[in-house]
Amino acid sequence: MIIVVSGTPGVGKTSVCSILSNMLKMEYVHVSKFVIERKLYKGYDQTRSSFEIDDQIVAKELNDYLREKSNVVIETVYPSLIDQADKVVVLRKNPKVLYEELSRRGWTDLKVIENVEAEILGYVAQEAHDWFKDVCEIDTTNLTPEQVVNKILNNSCDSTIDWLSYSEIQDLLLTLDKVIS
Ligand SMILES: Nc1ncnc2c1ncn2[C@@H]1O[C@H](COP(=O)(O)OP(=O)(O)OP(=O)(O)O)[C@@H](O)[C@H]1O
Ligand SMILES: [Mg+2]
Repeated sequence: MIIVVSGTPGVGKTSVCSILSNMLKMEYVHVSKFVIERKLYKGYDQTRSSFEIDDQIVAKELNDYLREKSNVVIETVYPSLIDQADKVVVLRKNPKVLYEELSRRGWTDLKVIENVEAEILGYVAQEAHDWFKDVCEIDTTNLTPEQVVNKILNNSCDSTIDWLSYSEIQDLLLTLDKVIS
């Protein structure tokens, strides 16, 4: 079984994948680590302190690796790198709470805001829905990682999450836009 756990940085993928892979005795593939270990990046973005990847090269190497595997939990910010999965989960987190979480990481304002905006606009979830037929979205905001894992195992998904339907989040987006413009 291949389980993909995706979502914007900071939503809780690592916490959930660690518990899930231990519980189910599955291998844990962390795509960012995979990219760095195999030197699959094509450059480094100084402004964002992050590696730039060539999607096609990473996808090929990753899917070749996964082809021989039967039980893997995969953590990735980019669900479309993965060709085939039995379960695709996208973790979501209230953007206000995510902002607090990412601000604690010592990242630049630009990096924090770009990622919070990505969550507000639902980029990762959209990519997952475009790529896979069945996607399970889970709002982790008020859950412990264990509760999130239970929801994944019980297939207890939330309906598609649209943060922009909340006026306070629309206001947050406008405020963040002003900060980086
Ligand atoms: N369900 C949860 N409830 C509360 N805090 C959580 C939960 N899941 C994770 N956390 C905390 O939130 C922070 C971010 O979690 P984590 O590192 O797992 O996110 P991530 O999605 O893997 O981020 P990245 O994409 O940068 O790897 C951590 O400090 C973690 O301890
Ligand atoms: Mg992580």
